[in-house]
Amino acid sequence: MINIALPKGRLGDKVYELFSSIGYDCKSIYEDNRKLVFENKDNGVRYLLIKPSDVAIYVEYGAADIGVVGKDVLLETNPDVYELCDLNLGKCHLCVAAPNDYVENTGTVLRVATKYPNVAKAYYRSKNREIEIIKLNGSIELAPILGLSDVIVDIVETGTTLVENNLKVIEKVAYSSARFIANKSSFKFNEQKINLMVGKINDKNI
Ligand code: PRP
Repeated sequence: MINIALPKGRLGDKVYELFSSIGYDCKSIYEDNRKLVFENKDNGVRYLLIKPSDVAIYVEYGAADIGVVGKDVLLETNPDVYELCDLNLGKCHLCVAAPNDYVENTGTVLRVATKYPNVAKAYYRSKNREIEIIKLNGSIELAPILGLSDVIVDIVETGTTLVENNLKVIEKVAYSSARFIANKSSFKFNEQKINLMVGKINDKNI
């Protein structure tokens, strides 16, 4: 069996559809229950449903052989895994955003609320801008509305969340999309099988 770490949620659904369409289906995954492991002995796949920010941890430690994770997470956590291909799904940008009427005061330390402290620190270091990180875990857009921070560094996909909260993009920090990753030793032992999957994904993406 090959253990595949899928990010739970919207992206995971799209990734599963892609994998299913190239010969790695597992019908039981559609069962409406709280199970986290689904397997299809016929084609040798076992899907693990994992919180998106934890997928790379499971793959790095070998609990999953392969997985799919956003480039945003890879940039933030820099896991020791192989990044084998871009699935061209879950496309978005990591951006700096602020209230519509925001004007930067360059004389003060910039307060940055984010789920991505490492990405934010590296970005502002490259601009020689002194910042204070306020690490949050969700609903980041609330921080500048309530005066907890000046700006946020967060994912912008459709831009709806920003618009609905009277915020705007100030700068783009990085592009992100779903990446197919592999555990380094699993790749060595299953190179043929994994390369076959990568080939099929790339054919589908053309
Ligand atoms: C992400 C991100 C933004 C939103 C952007 O949040 O943090 O809030 O999606 O998407 P949009 O540009 O299409 O509106 P997520 O849904 O992961 O929830 P969270 O706020 O709990 O992080």
